[in-house]
Amino acid sequence: MQTVAVLSLKGGVGKTTVVLGLASAAMRRGVRTLVVDLDPQCNATAALEPEKTAKGLTDVLADPSPEVLRAAVTSSSWGDEVDVLVGSEDAEDLNGHQPDGGHLSRLQDALSELDELIAEGQLPYQLVLLDCPPSLGRLTRSALVAADRALLVTEPTIFAVSGVQRAFEAVQAERANNPDLQPLGVVVNRVRPRSHEHQYRIDELRDIFGPLVMPVALPDRLAVQQAQGACMPIHQWGTPGAREVSLAFNLILARTLRSGRIRRPEPEDEEEDFVEEAE
Ligand SMILES: Nc1ncnc2c1ncn2[C@@H]1O[C@H](COP(=O)(O)OP(=O)(O)OP(=O)(O)O)[C@@H](O)[C@H]1O
Ligand SMILES: [Mg+2]
Repeated sequence: MQTVAVLSLKGGVGKTTVVLGLASAAMRRGVRTLVVDLDPQCNATAALEPEKTAKGLTDVLADPSPEVLRAAVTSSSWGDEVDVLVGSEDAEDLNGHQPDGGHLSRLQDALSELDELIAEGQLPYQLVLLDCPPSLGRLTRSALVAADRALLVTEPTIFAVSGVQRAFEAVQAERANNPDLQPLGVVVNRVRPRSHEHQYRIDELRDIFGPLVMPVALPDRLAVQQAQGACMPIHQWGTPGAREVSLAFNLILARTLRSGRIRRPEPEDEEEDFVEEAE
């Protein structure tokens, strides 16, 4: 199981979009995926339209036992390949300062239980995507304690460099608690390819963060909002804009899978075809 935390310093830059896009690419590729909605806004949960569950994220963080975990995880409306650990609006209460040090490791405990259930063949996931709330607060930190990869999202704007820098610092700081954690890269989202300003900002990010900046950026396309509004995977939306965004997600997923420990379900040469197709 590979666990990827998707985070940013700023709100509204595309974390949930990246989580949904990667889940969509994984679904197309037959990689069984669990989306964990850590955001009290519950946007990922809403977009994936899960069945009603008896438990949610806050229950799992209060009691990370296999029983509670199973009661909080359900299938999405997308299909069998993508499940959801449903978000809780009251998770906001956990995001502030907690005098007792809080329960930063509870998510890690829950994901360890999940790993055991997978090892026993009771759950099928190969990829776990953690959709973080819009801050580097406690919930995001608990994701960094639990994850083995951190994927940073930014827009190509004037404050991108400082935002990414601070997010990297948060990742570095959390490595003291979680030595397995590694930065996977920076996804630049909502790029307008003909914008000189955007190109300038991307170049600036590349100068500073080098190959950590994903070689493919996500274009700004209405299809992203349309597919999310219709609760559909972007790969099934079918417009030229959706195809463009889907191919970018294929490449980001390929890089994610390459960076991790998960075994590909397809034959050896499949990834090359997959990347070629995306290029
Ligand atoms: N590449 C894109 N093209 C067009 N619209 C986009 C793109 N990426 C994101 N959006 C839209 O921008 C809005 C914010 O995106 P999203 O919800 O993914 O950001 P977020 O970082 O998860 O926000 P929050 O910090 O509130 O959780 C959404 O309406 C989404 O549909
Ligand atoms: Mg979000």
